[in-house]
Amino acid sequence: MTRIGIVGTGNISGIYLENAARLGYEVLAVSDLDLERAQAQATQYGVPHALSVDDLLAHPDIEIVLNLTIPAAHGPIALRSLEAGKHVYNEKPLASTLEEAKKMLERAAQKGLRVGCAPDTFLGAGFQSAREQLKGGIIGQPVHASALMASVGPEGWHPDPSFFFQPGAGPLFDMGPYYLTALISLFGSVSSVFATVKSTHTERTVGSGPKAGQSVPVNTPTHVSGVLNFESGLSASLTMSFDMVPGSAPLLEVYGTKGSLTLPDPNTFGGPLETHSVTGEKIELSLNKPFEDNSRGLGLANMAQAIQEGRPHLASGQLAYHVLETMFKLLESGEAGKLMTLESKVVRPEALGEIAARVG
Ligand SMILES: NC(=O)c1ccc[n+]([C@@H]2O[C@H](COP(=O)([O-])OP(=O)(O)OC[C@H]3O[C@@H](n4cnc5c(N)ncnc54)[C@H](O)[C@@H]3O)[C@@H](O)[C@H]2O)c1
Repeated sequence: MTRIGIVGTGNISGIYLENAARLGYEVLAVSDLDLERAQAQATQYGVPHALSVDDLLAHPDIEIVLNLTIPAAHGPIALRSLEAGKHVYNEKPLASTLEEAKKMLERAAQKGLRVGCAPDTFLGAGFQSAREQLKGGIIGQPVHASALMASVGPEGWHPDPSFFFQPGAGPLFDMGPYYLTALISLFGSVSSVFATVKSTHTERTVGSGPKAGQSVPVNTPTHVSGVLNFESGLSASLTMSFDMVPGSAPLLEVYGTKGSLTLPDPNTFGGPLETHSVTGEKIELSLNKPFEDNSRGLGLANMAQAIQEGRPHLASGQLAYHVLETMFKLLESGEAGKLMTLESKVVRPEALGEIAARVG
């Protein structure tokens, strides 16, 4: 079983630790700037070692570093892991700048190491079933997709929400990776984007915890609405907002010449998956693929197996880089008021297919 070291033992680390045994990786050590936090997770999940970051990176038995730090540390920790000769799998987004992300992929290629990145929800039952339905022609030729994440922002429930309103975060970088990874995994590369961006409020008020009532400055757009042109000819509209109350429109939907497909919430692994036929009939489709429950870590497990078997992994650094470039180009377009062309391209990841039979 591939041995993993986790750097960053905050909120999201629990599910990766919980899923390790069933998905087939072994967490040998955990680390955090706050070593007590790392020790607490090690105790709760029976991890052999809680180490400093330096000691974890120097551990000879660790093959992959699972980087669950905050976005600003994704690039630096990934680069240090690669320099230490480890493969790395990051939480989203891949890095907080494109330059950092590019350096990460280049260094990995030079050293013959892998970079993987969340989200891996596109490998779940919902999106793998959708992929098969689209391939089978259920909606005919896909013409347009719509992605809509409407929310009033995280400051109501998050006790320390200021980072959500700083550059590198906002709704686009926080939630956009789920929607964009889902669309790009289904439809391939984005070629150009056009967007409008704004912040409806200049500050936000913390709603819970010890900082309740304090104001947080808004330093990044909290409403991003754009159009994406895919190389395949598909167009998509995408709105990621912390400024508005959700209505009844679906989160993610694809419209084709013979029907439409309402996709699951891309922040989940399961369904529902529904189609509307040309006559207006609505049908709930059964999910005929595994991993309907919270299977965070599936992309990491797939990368670990792919390394052993010498084949490409699916939640790849290249895919995450294209997602990151799409997000930066949306922001640049909104700021400059013009269409932006992407430089990177990505090969659509294969279906999870037979891999699923060997994991879990
Ligand atoms: N919380 C969620 O529901 C959720 C869901 C999906 C993805 N994510 C992503 O997972 C990542 C972590 O989120 P979280 O909610 O667990 O955050 P968190 O703030 O709860 O935990 C992050 C941890 O990383 C540690 N850390 C930061 N910089 C470090 C460094 N340089 N070296 C070592 N440790 C460092 C912090 O001390 C902290 O314990 C983020 O990228 C986030 O976007 C979170």
